[in-house]
Amino acid sequence: MKIVVIQGPNLNMLGIREQNIYGPMKLEQIHAQMKDVATQNGVEIEFFQSNLEGEIVDKIQECYGEAQGLIINAAAYTHTSIAIRDAISAVSLPTIEVHISNIHRREEFRQKNMIAPVCTSSVVGFGPFGYHLAMMGMLQIMNEIKA
Ligand code: DQA
Repeated sequence: MKIVVIQGPNLNMLGIREQNIYGPMKLEQIHAQMKDVATQNGVEIEFFQSNLEGEIVDKIQECYGEAQGLIINAAAYTHTSIAIRDAISAVSLPTIEVHISNIHRREEFRQKNMIAPVCTSSVVGFGPFGYHLAMMGMLQIMNEIKA
């Protein structure tokens, strides 16, 4: 079983960007924690970050036949990208979208979510801990697939 974690634009700046919104934790630290949980549960995990929409689409497509689950924070593309939405639909894998901040309580332009309707579930507003919650959710889904 393999989970692929896809991180969208500017998430490589975590720990630097808007710490009042996203906190002080760096992406590498979040990934290290997720890796620990994956290892403890005997699941393979791969991490991918890109600031480019097409690269994210390519990565999602690569997951077809290679991964059994996706965890994605499409970041700003969440609110605009039909291409990422279509890629998620195309591969038809269990997909959990994560947002560190509570996008529902933020600006009007963040209220539109192109990704959520094609995802299995969303984790929103728990800070970096949301990635841990997404891991727990994905492990549960994988157990159900195996059973
Ligand atoms: C985000 C929320 C998006 O609106 C924003 O563009 C991001 C991060 C989050 O994790 O809270 O870059 O996806």
